[in-house]
Amino acid sequence: MLGMRNRLSIIYKNHSKFFSNFVKQRFVLGIETSCDETGAAVVTDSGDVIGEGLRSQKNIHVKNGGVIPSLAQALHRECIHSVVQDALDQSRLDIQDMTAVATTTMPGLALSLMVGLEYTKQMVARTNLPFIPVHHMQAHALTVRMIQRVEFPFLVLLVSGGHCLLTVARGVDDFLILGQCLDNAPGEVFDKVARKLRLQHHPECQGLSGGQAMEKLATGGSIRLLMGKGTQLPRSRTCDFSFSGTRTVADELIRRQETNQEITNHDDSFLENLPDICASVQHKITHHLCTRVVRAFQYCNNTKLIPDNNQILVVSGGVASNSYIRTALEKTCGVLGYNLICPPPKLCTDNGIMIAWAGMEKLKLGIGISDNPQNVRFEPRYAIGQDIRSSVAEANIKVKAVKFW
Ligand code: KG4
Ligand code: ZN
Repeated sequence: MLGMRNRLSIIYKNHSKFFSNFVKQRFVLGIETSCDETGAAVVTDSGDVIGEGLRSQKNIHVKNGGVIPSLAQALHRECIHSVVQDALDQSRLDIQDMTAVATTTMPGLALSLMVGLEYTKQMVARTNLPFIPVHHMQAHALTVRMIQRVEFPFLVLLVSGGHCLLTVARGVDDFLILGQCLDNAPGEVFDKVARKLRLQHHPECQGLSGGQAMEKLATGGSIRLLMGKGTQLPRSRTCDFSFSGTRTVADELIRRQETNQEITNHDDSFLENLPDICASVQHKITHHLCTRVVRAFQYCNNTKLIPDNNQILVVSGGVASNSYIRTALEKTCGVLGYNLICPPPKLCTDNGIMIAWAGMEKLKLGIGISDNPQNVRFEPRYAIGQDIRSSVAEANIKVKAVKFW
């Protein structure tokens, strides 16, 4: 005779088997065209990436010294269909097998966003699939939950070529802004300084972004050249970021060194102390990021925005793949009792996977699905969430960076 408990457990097991056969797996097709990557991916509800297509325009824009929006648009138009098809082909599924389509509609370059949105509108008109518009920065912040269990609320630092943002992720669609960039984003400074140093012609930096080139050449360099130079909002007790001062002092330093070493822009030679210049700029950017992060920790602890048992800092965006910055943040987190989580570099840069996953998060909760897909508009500027920067400023928290160097 089976005991009641065993009988119940067999019924439960059979039932759950029946149930899992019965419940259809869900798939979201994600599409990203907000800047200079055309990305598409298919993800499942359990976070498996079963298909991906990605084309980067970065090499083309590097030659022009920055993204030209009309060119970016033309390049997105040229390849969006084949990128989506790559993702679907790899997944061995048909568009009709998708549960929904999620596409970046904000923020970003208008002409780039337009391509993904127009393509999606045509696709959903043809297929009747539900359409989930996605906020690009929210997607960056949520990616981590695709690869590991991270519960809300957690702190997020997003650092890329266009953004620098400290935010508290309280839910899939619920973010608080603690601080943001007031001028140049850190990746932009890396790119502009790399260009001043003409690293795109350097034999060791072929095919690398400005930030990657600077990181590579910084190895073994001295970090001292810019210490004490160029203000980074020293008197503002906020979590906002300013990197324009770093850019100015780096430009001045390069000009001085070029004069001293008699190097002109048309020359094929490079400054002798490239490692010191790269390491000093990298250090200065890192130092500023770390002081802001320390203030954010203290603010979140004081206000109980982040509970003691979930002290997590997620760092993402292209600049997050820099290992000097990662190590510095790791040390900073360690001292203040936080855990640092960085998604793998491939998921930190722009891609279709993060958009598909953000769409899946919304789909699971039944939120953010458009009632009228053909009326969805793109928004070049759109805040990630509620701005509480003035409350951070009022808290007037004095901090010192953890000595990470
Ligand atoms: O997130 P992302 O792929 O795209 C946009 O910002 O649109 O980030 C690209 C930025 C570029 O500015 C690039 O120079 C920077 O991230 N970056 C890095 C590194 N890898 C990429 N910056 C510093 N160190 C790196 N290893
Ligand atoms: Zn991005």
